[in-house]
Amino acid sequence: MTQTNFVILAAGKGTRMRSNVPKVLHKIAGRSMLGHVVDAVDSLSSDVKKIIVTGHGAALVEEQFQSGDTVFVEQREQLGTGHAVQMALPVLDNHGVVVVLYGDVPLIKPSTIEAMLEVVSDTQMGLLTVHLDNPHGYGRIVRNNDAAIQSIVEQKDATQEQLKITEVNTGVLALQAHQLRQWLPQITNDNAQKEYYLTDLIAIACSQGVEVVSVNPDSAVEVEGVNNRQQLSRLERDYQHQMAVKLMQSGTSLADPARFDQRGKLVAGTDNFIDVNCVFEGDVTLGNNVSIGPNCMIIDSVIGDDVEIKANTVIDSARVGDHAVIGPFARLRPGTELAANTKVGNFVETKKAIVGQGSKINHLSYVGDATLGDNVNIGAGTITCNYDGVNKHQTELNDNVFVGSNSTLVAPVTVESGGFVAAGSTVTTKVPSDSLAVGRAKQRNIEGWKRPAKQTKDDK
Ligand code: UD1
Ligand code: CA
Repeated sequence: MTQTNFVILAAGKGTRMRSNVPKVLHKIAGRSMLGHVVDAVDSLSSDVKKIIVTGHGAALVEEQFQSGDTVFVEQREQLGTGHAVQMALPVLDNHGVVVVLYGDVPLIKPSTIEAMLEVVSDTQMGLLTVHLDNPHGYGRIVRNNDAAIQSIVEQKDATQEQLKITEVNTGVLALQAHQLRQWLPQITNDNAQKEYYLTDLIAIACSQGVEVVSVNPDSAVEVEGVNNRQQLSRLERDYQHQMAVKLMQSGTSLADPARFDQRGKLVAGTDNFIDVNCVFEGDVTLGNNVSIGPNCMIIDSVIGDDVEIKANTVIDSARVGDHAVIGPFARLRPGTELAANTKVGNFVETKKAIVGQGSKINHLSYVGDATLGDNVNIGAGTITCNYDGVNKHQTELNDNVFVGSNSTLVAPVTVESGGFVAAGSTVTTKVPSDSLAVGRAKQRNIEGWKRPAKQTKDDK
């Protein structure tokens, strides 16, 4: 089967980013710009070969994008877009089509790439163009009297008349590999920038009787490139807006779509509500009727139905059962699994904590490396001492255990079902079923005790 070749230009340094990181590795929604382009290509149904043209920071780019269907070619000197694509010629699948994409144009849609692929034949090539109110800086699309595309002229090479053209080149084009192979060597650097312009392909195609068919993206942001951090932030907001709209369309309400951030994949049921300034990272699944308060961060987690997550809660790599109530100011760390109807309140931190149905950890606690049965009640300020400085140990609290406030549970330790730990206890050995553990100094009272009096100057 023939492959569709995607040549992705990623050699540029991005001087205006003022960064030690190569431009294409700067991120939008937590994923590098190049990553977004690669994802768009990977979502196509065709058999693809990705050829990434690297230059600045080549090693870093290669490291991040190693995969079976990706080939890297290095462009050591940036002599122009035509020169960059030339680097890919030796590794092209000659029978297929070639699409040229840009690592710093991250929001290109798969549907747009598909529309480009559709127009390519032996007698037609595709060119992605867009009409801009302010076309300054872009290559202009020159058409003849029959409105057929003839050539592209760069800003610096254009006549006054040509500069008035508002249809511009996005840079994205698609054509047969064998034609590219034939035409690319004909390009020279005889122009204002002394660069090998990929755009010269258009005039060559026309001279060979191949028609250049224009395709337009749904919106101009799809073809917007990033040269500086302001542009990066604009595309970030645009992308976030798209995600917010999708989420609302699927039945989740957002207090403010402009204060919503999704950095990864968010799957949500219906009738959820998300308050302002929440961040979702990695793979997050929300059930139905979930309410999330302001300033929450949820990473790689699964949240059940009818869950209430109150303000300023952080949930990372955890599972939360139906009807749970969490926060405000709770922190669920990796390996936390809360069953249905559980409660985790303010200033509670959990880690590798399996918590059974109806159990409550309501205030100021650390529960780590612990298994809690059903209907366990953890009093305020309870700490599982899971770490001896070398190893981590388990705490096991069986069904219906009650732990009084300000207790320390020194792991490994078990409280059997129905066990009751008196407030302020330090528990170091097993508490048998249905018994009370009192592990604290006995109170003694000193009668007639005088309080210290305030010292006067004469006393000193
Ligand atoms: C290019 C197009 C212009 C188009 C514009 C759209 C050419 C000659 N001009 O102009 O018609 O309107 O894009 O944004 O193609 N690159 C390399 N190696 C090189 C040169 C460039 O990898 O030797 C990469 C850059 O990193 C960048 C992309 O190609 O990602 C575009 O290069 P740039 O110099 O920015 O092209 P423009 O002058 O903007
Ligand atoms: Ca340039």
